[in-house]
Amino acid sequence: MATLSTSRFVKQLANWVTAITILINIYLYTYPSFNSERCSWATTEVKTGSLTNWESLVLQIPYFGDIFQQYFLDESKLEDNSDDIKILALGDPQINGNWPNTPYIKRLDNFGNDYYLGHIYRTMKRRLLPSHVAVMGDLFSSQWISDSEYYNRTRRYMTRLFPQPEQHTLDAMNFVDKHEDVDWRTFYGWMNGNLNDGSFLKEEEYAYYDIYDWTKPRIEGQPLFINITGNHDVGYGDTTYQHLARYRKLFGKDNYFIEYDNNTDHPWRIVVLNSLALDGPLLQPEFQTYTWQFVEMLSKQKYPGQTILMTHIPFYKREGLCIDGPFVEYFTEENALEDYRIGLLKSENHLQYETSQKVLNAVFQSGKPGIVLTGHDHEGCENFYSKDENNVWVADKSVKNKNFYIKEATVRAMMGDFDGHAGIMTGHLNKSTGLWEWNYSSCPFSVQHVWWVGHVGIALSILLQSIGFLI
Ligand SMILES: *[C@@H]1O[C@H](CO)[C@@H](O)[C@H](O)[C@H]1NC(C)=O
Ligand SMILES: *[C@@H]1O[C@H](CO)[C@@H](O)[C@H](O)[C@H]1NC(C)=O
Ligand SMILES: *[C@@H]1O[C@H](CO)[C@@H](O)[C@H](O)[C@H]1NC(C)=O
Ligand SMILES: *[C@@H]1O[C@H](CO)[C@@H](O)[C@H](O)[C@H]1NC(C)=O
Ligand SMILES: *[C@@H]1O[C@H](CO)[C@@H](O)[C@H](O)[C@H]1NC(C)=O
Repeated sequence: MATLSTSRFVKQLANWVTAITILINIYLYTYPSFNSERCSWATTEVKTGSLTNWESLVLQIPYFGDIFQQYFLDESKLEDNSDDIKILALGDPQINGNWPNTPYIKRLDNFGNDYYLGHIYRTMKRRLLPSHVAVMGDLFSSQWISDSEYYNRTRRYMTRLFPQPEQHTLDAMNFVDKHEDVDWRTFYGWMNGNLNDGSFLKEEEYAYYDIYDWTKPRIEGQPLFINITGNHDVGYGDTTYQHLARYRKLFGKDNYFIEYDNNTDHPWRIVVLNSLALDGPLLQPEFQTYTWQFVEMLSKQKYPGQTILMTHIPFYKREGLCIDGPFVEYFTEENALEDYRIGLLKSENHLQYETSQKVLNAVFQSGKPGIVLTGHDHEGCENFYSKDENNVWVADKSVKNKNFYIKEATVRAMMGDFDGHAGIMTGHLNKSTGLWEWNYSSCPFSVQHVWWVGHVGIALSILLQSIGFLI
């Protein structure tokens, strides 16, 4: 008798666990549908008049309507938004590493976290088919790691978090496999040579045109992947040649621009800027000179089109507009682990006021609306910078000067503690004004524990079902 009821109990438990696991997994794979507005391109719209009564009824149902639209609705019934600029912006993944004394539970947590972040990327990529993906800096959680640890995290970044076709990561992976210290001396020579002969003031040093894939031939359906330097990737005032050399070796240039649609009446570009080297003081002031020469070059260009500026640190704004207010800190005798850092920039929440004015002036000269995507503050925030009567950029929650403004979207971190958000930026060409219109929304997921429960649930269900079957 006892065994009979035990077996009934196990079987029932197995069914319950299985049912709950299935529900959680459905949630995990369809979570954007719960926030379909915030988790879609701003221009995803059905054509008016194209729907049958039955279809419009289904589309109005929360969640199910979105699933229906994605998987069952005829594509011809949606407005064609294939010419839009579609950028998936991911904030501060900040992946941790394991040290010899890292407890096993923390190692497991790090392992799961990689796949949790990867799940967000895969889900959003499948749903949205972005033209560009930008990681807004702080790819890793600390700049003070050895080259070996840096390579190991790079591998995780490229295979678990943001898996790419082999062609995209082959060079990086081959380099990482060699596990040799990065050759920062050659980089040192290159940096100082260019500073001496004025190369950093020239456009050619930074220019790309109509890039949709970093490698050739272009792989259709794959977004262009853009990495941005964060303080945890290269450091603030403490950035060394080693830091910048290994970043550039594996993640691309720290400063550059890509121009698109150059010979149309609606040119636009992406500018990637290393904001860590703008304010100082820096251990290697050369990096500051170099980065300001990039800004100077941008300023001289007088670019006539519209710009998407991508950088890690948000621009200066008054207290109260975002969670992070103005803040800057320098290394002192008390907080510098090593003496050489004393006096250098330790951290800042925003770029300093003067810096912000200069950079915005250099990048956004055309007077046409632009957008800035940043990371760094983790909470996320949206503002507009308008030029006031004194020709000064002032941040606010709304547009104060319709003739001269830009938007700043500070992308909320994709970390589990911040609910695994993904930033969705749509650029849509308004045919009547000839201008790109920028929209931004932030798509929430949930804390990493839900992902864990979903996966542990699968293992548990299989185990319980097997036991239930055997006894
Ligand atoms: C990085 O990974 C390699 C290969 O798995 C390992 O030998 C090395 O110790 C790792 N580096 C660190 C700093 O843990
Ligand atoms: C940024 O990193 C991804 C891999 O995660 C890589 O495919 C891409 O080429 C990198 N970007 C540049 C400009 O190197
Ligand atoms: C347009 O692109 C070409 C390269 O395709 C470049 O040489 C030229 O400078 C660009 N023109 C403008 C106005 O940016
Ligand atoms: C284009 O811009 C005009 C003027 O701002 C506006 O009235 C119109 O709604 C816009 N069109 C679209 C399709 O957004
Ligand atoms: C997108 O932005 C434009 C202004 O740039 C605004 O008129 C429009 O309502 C926005 N669309 C959505 C869906 O938020």
